Amino acid sequence: MTLDTVMQTLKPVDDGLRERAARVIPGGMYGHLNVTLLPASYPQFYRSGNGARLTDVDGNQYIDFMCGFGPMISGYKNPVVEAAAAAQLAEGDALGGPTPRMVELAELLVDTVGPADWAMFGKNGTDATSLAVTIARAATGKRKLLKGRSAYHGANAWFNPNPLGSTPEDRANIIFFDFNDIASLEAAAAEAGDDLAGIIVSPFKHDGPVDDQRLAEVDFARAVRALADRNDAVLIMDEVRTGFRLVTGSAWEPLGVAPDLIAYSKAIANGWALSAVVGIDALAQAASDIYATGSFWYSGVAMAAGIANIGLLRETDTPAHMDHVGTLLRTGLQAQAEENGFEVVQSGPAAMPYLRFVDDPGHAAALAFTGAAAARGVLLHPVHNWFLSTAHTEQDIADALDRTAEAFAEARSVLG
Ligand SMILES: Cc1ncc(COP(=O)(O)O)c(C=O)c1O
Repeated sequence: MTLDTVMQTLKPVDDGLRERAARVIPGGMYGHLNVTLLPASYPQFYRSGNGARLTDVDGNQYIDFMCGFGPMISGYKNPVVEAAAAAQLAEGDALGGPTPRMVELAELLVDTVGPADWAMFGKNGTDATSLAVTIARAATGKRKLLKGRSAYHGANAWFNPNPLGSTPEDRANIIFFDFNDIASLEAAAAEAGDDLAGIIVSPFKHDGPVDDQRLAEVDFARAVRALADRNDAVLIMDEVRTGFRLVTGSAWEPLGVAPDLIAYSKAIANGWALSAVVGIDALAQAASDIYATGSFWYSGVAMAAGIANIGLLRETDTPAHMDHVGTLLRTGLQAQAEENGFEVVQSGPAAMPYLRFVDDPGHAAALAFTGAAAARGVLLHPVHNWFLSTAHTEQDIADALDRTAEAFAEARSVLG
């Protein structure tokens, strides 16, 4: 049997699941994980993951650069993290209340993240950003929140980029600024007047399919801090996507800027559902005064996984490794793009790279390239940043580049 025949024989498993999903899951799949928006070579359903590799339900293997859109940072099925989770699972997960893991994890975060004096936990990134905003409003008694234009902070009524199903009142207290633009930040603060509760900001601009990623300029970061201080407002850093990939701690530490609250999720427990808000002492009272809870927020398994994972991330300079392998990937892709006559812009930190094709109406080149890469077993995304992990090796990058060389060539022949 040729490889093509094998692939065709196996293909129906994913197709079959998609047909069943279309009957019982709205839209067949909701949100950005609906792969009908991607080239046909992307699988919808996966069977397993190991290290930096994924296997789909049809048995096709991929070198994965999406890391589950961020959660995988130490490798799928990392033995240390999985052993800690299994040990806790043997004792129980959702019990009558929290396990000792909750205190241990809070202690570890306070010890790891410079500005943190305390931690509280949820499950999703949206839990963490929502909690942070609620704490900011409770602490200040004010309403307005400054937020980067088009920045994503979660899928609740305040933040969801799609307004369908929310009311103008839900969003009435959000005022937008442009990232790295101090004048727009000042203008937004002026509009808030004496009602400014907080500023929510991501460590770098990573929100748009049409825009490049932008690292924070040091003057901008300092201006955000100064403006929060001047207005007795809370500086909230959304590290849900970036957490522990740029800095093992708080991302603006190298810029000398400390937030008051930081929201983490995605990678902190290497794929187990966990989020955290950490904060400064001055906000501990407000954080305990608000009503914050969730049926699964106290469960022990994800917390045990989080302790093991953060322990691993602290052992070596993991951001340096992700930057190294990300740079190798980026350098290789740049050469391949040029060899095939594509002008591309690669932006953002190498640990979370983004590649945009210049003059690419409808993302035709991005779709052709990433579709051809997926067909060759390399998972990238046409319009979302990618993620490196500590599990990606130099060999993984070399293997991936062998395949992307062919993918660029195919994209060139398809697009002419
Ligand atoms: C920066 C940022 N904030 C918040 C969220 C929301 O996280 P979740 O999808 O876990 O609710 C995301 C998710 O992608 C994110 O990237």
